[in-house]
Amino acid sequence: MSRWNGLLHEYKEFLPVNEKTPMLSLQEGNTPLVPLEHLSKEWGVEIYVKYEGANPTGSFKDRGMVMAVAKAKEEGSKAIICASTGNTSAAAAAYGARAGLRCIVVIPEGKIALGKLAQAVMYGAEVLEIQGNFDNALDIVREISKTEPITLVNSVNPYRIEGQKTAAFEVCDALGKAPDVLAIPVGNAGNITAYWKGFKEYNEKKGTGLPQMRGFEAEGAAAIVKNEIIQEPETVATAIRIGNPASWKQAVAASEESNGAIDFVTDEEILEAYQLLASREGVFAEPASCASIAGLKKQIESGEIKKGSTVVCVLTGNGLKDPNTAIDSVSVKPVVLPNDQAAFLSHLKGGVMS
Ligand code: F0G
Repeated sequence: MSRWNGLLHEYKEFLPVNEKTPMLSLQEGNTPLVPLEHLSKEWGVEIYVKYEGANPTGSFKDRGMVMAVAKAKEEGSKAIICASTGNTSAAAAAYGARAGLRCIVVIPEGKIALGKLAQAVMYGAEVLEIQGNFDNALDIVREISKTEPITLVNSVNPYRIEGQKTAAFEVCDALGKAPDVLAIPVGNAGNITAYWKGFKEYNEKKGTGLPQMRGFEAEGAAAIVKNEIIQEPETVATAIRIGNPASWKQAVAASEESNGAIDFVTDEEILEAYQLLASREGVFAEPASCASIAGLKKQIESGEIKKGSTVVCVLTGNGLKDPNTAIDSVSVKPVVLPNDQAAFLSHLKGGVMS
């Protein structure tokens, strides 16, 4: 088996890569497409998850960031900036460090998962918390990047979409064709835009077909579904706590062109899916990611997704990103025992082994 060389190398014919583009890589991409054996049987559909938590910084953002940072470097930029609910900042900080660029990340105060903050500081980014939400932070960095010599690396940067579309290629390669349904969480709506672009390009080149695009917002941040800007979005899935998605129109277009839909799921449904996925299938993804599984369940029950369909759910980020939500969401805590073998055995026999 030949070695994987990262997205810019592997997909250069589909990407804006030329002889001047630095071949930046942390070996991102090539993530597992894991079949969900138990839930497939139970729900009567063939489910796979695209496990994007296996990327170098633990989320799908690496796909877009490697492209955006390589282009920033190619264009002679010395600094990058982004607003983030956490994962974009982790990816920007990592690829910024790798490329030797100054990296400034702007995050909503107190609303980003611990692992993501740890990453940004470890990779050496300048971390600025604003007393506002993601949408406010995005407004600020968009304005600043217009007047200052700093490259904006949010998904409004078209290179981000280019890099992220490669996930659709990998799904088609792994299945031999596009699935019937692609279920995906929606926050700022860049990723659904990118997948749809990727499926269309691959279909044109390789005849792999097109899936229905089914995007899922969190109920408390469901701007697209409700067709109104949400001034104060709220959800346990902090990664998609976004009230005015930048790629709103593109997300609607993807769902309409593909005969899919944008829907929402409640925090309860997200947390239920989060636990189910980990405890039944051994797959740990962060809460926002599980909006795709929650949405699948909801639309199987409503009949919108037909029994027997092949469905790929995108699991956008690693469960380890957000240890606090994991600990808080389960009632079972570690059992404390004395340092004694007999006591240990007696506990096992009285409990788990009995
Ligand atoms: N899932 C996770 C884990 C995310 O971090 C994000 C977005 C999404 C889903 C939604 O993707 O915005 O392309 O619709 N996170 C951004 C960030 C906003 O700053 O990390 P989207």
